[in-house]
Amino acid sequence: MVSSYYPIILLGSSLAQTALGWTYHLLRTTMNWTQARQHCKTNYTDMVVIQSQEENDYLVSLLPNRKGSPYYWIGITRNHKNETWTWLGNNSTWIGNESWAENEPNNNHSTEFCVEIYVKTGNNRGRWNDEKCSNKKYPVCYKAQCNAASCGRGTCRETIQNITCHCQPGFKGDRCQTAVKCPHLPLTDNGDFSCSRGNQTFNSTCQLKCHLGFLLTGLPAITCRANGVWSGPRPTCTSYKHALLAVAGCGALSALCCICFCWMKRRKRKKLTQVRQPEEATDPSSEVHG
Ligand SMILES: *[C@@H]1O[C@H](CO)[C@@H](O)[C@H](O)[C@H]1NC(C)=O
Ligand SMILES: *[C@@H]1O[C@H](CO)[C@@H](O)[C@H](O)[C@H]1NC(C)=O
Ligand SMILES: *[C@@H]1O[C@H](CO)[C@@H](O)[C@H](O)[C@H]1NC(C)=O
Ligand SMILES: *[C@@H]1O[C@H](CO)[C@@H](O)[C@H](O)[C@H]1NC(C)=O
Ligand SMILES: *[C@@H]1O[C@H](CO)[C@@H](O)[C@H](O)[C@H]1NC(C)=O
Ligand SMILES: *[C@@H]1O[C@H](CO)[C@@H](O)[C@H](O)[C@H]1NC(C)=O
Ligand SMILES: *[C@@H]1O[C@H](CO)[C@@H](O)[C@H](O)[C@H]1NC(C)=O
Repeated sequence: MVSSYYPIILLGSSLAQTALGWTYHLLRTTMNWTQARQHCKTNYTDMVVIQSQEENDYLVSLLPNRKGSPYYWIGITRNHKNETWTWLGNNSTWIGNESWAENEPNNNHSTEFCVEIYVKTGNNRGRWNDEKCSNKKYPVCYKAQCNAASCGRGTCRETIQNITCHCQPGFKGDRCQTAVKCPHLPLTDNGDFSCSRGNQTFNSTCQLKCHLGFLLTGLPAITCRANGVWSGPRPTCTSYKHALLAVAGCGALSALCCICFCWMKRRKRKKLTQVRQPEEATDPSSEVHG
């Protein structure tokens, strides 16, 4: 009895040590489904979850062949005949086109809400059958390798002999450990970028402060977006002196124009008076002559 309770780790213990991928555990004692699940939850993570046909086939290849019933309990169930079959380990409802054995699930006793997997040679190998939960079969459990630390900024998914991380926006890498980088902001002689968190990665906000004598053009702060693009165009600093000179230059020019204009006008007036004087002079003379 004691020795038959000893669980067999189907995947090598070396895998468990590297903490990569979940491990399957088989108990060599039959029990009803409720007891089987309790056993899995107490000693491992839960009753085995199958997430793809590939995983189904892999599991079948690991389990010892049986010549007939009882076969093995797997962790998919429902509470009522109108309910969807659900994997208790992760709430998924995956069922492949080839999952059920021929003419199954048949709900023969109208209360067949638990599932066994046929591991045998020949017909229906690796296919499923709905069974009464009170029947006794061999439990297959799994121990998850995903934990809170597995995927820094992502969600962890168990895969065959490994785990896969699905990263949140703004993060990448095998374990979502790297923040997405935005194009590096070049150093400028005319101002300094100061970035929150000291770097130019996702969620960093960089602010441009112009040196004395330089004017800021554009929005002063830009933020690195999850897709690695800055939130707006890069602000720049333009020389304040140049701007001033330009304004001053224009002013000087207009002053010069003004002076020029005034001088010319004055000269014209002077010329006019000079012209008129001789006329005035001749008039009296003509009067004299006339
Ligand atoms: C549960 O299985 C489904 C179906 O393959 C998968 O999409 C989902 O990511 C799994 N969830 C977890 C937490 O492993
Ligand atoms: C599955 O869903 C139920 C009800 O929504 C919830 O209580 C349970 O924690 C979920 N289990 C997992 C493994 O996500
Ligand atoms: C239904 O169950 C009965 C008794 O266990 C069995 O004789 C019969 O063959 C089953 N029918 C089907 C379709 O599996
Ligand atoms: C499973 O077995 C336990 C212990 O023998 C028993 O209390 C329980 O009612 C059984 N459950 C089912 C669904 O048969
Ligand atoms: C696990 O997956 C990572 C990438 O997701 C890969 O680099 C590593 O080699 C895989 N390990 C095994 C044992 O397959
Ligand atoms: C950026 O700064 C944050 C907070 O200090 C840090 O967590 C992150 O690792 C840094 N990223 C890089 C690429 O240096
Ligand atoms: C990014 O910044 C926003 C606003 O400051 C914050 O709410 C959010 O938690 C940050 N996200 C990450 C992944 O650091």
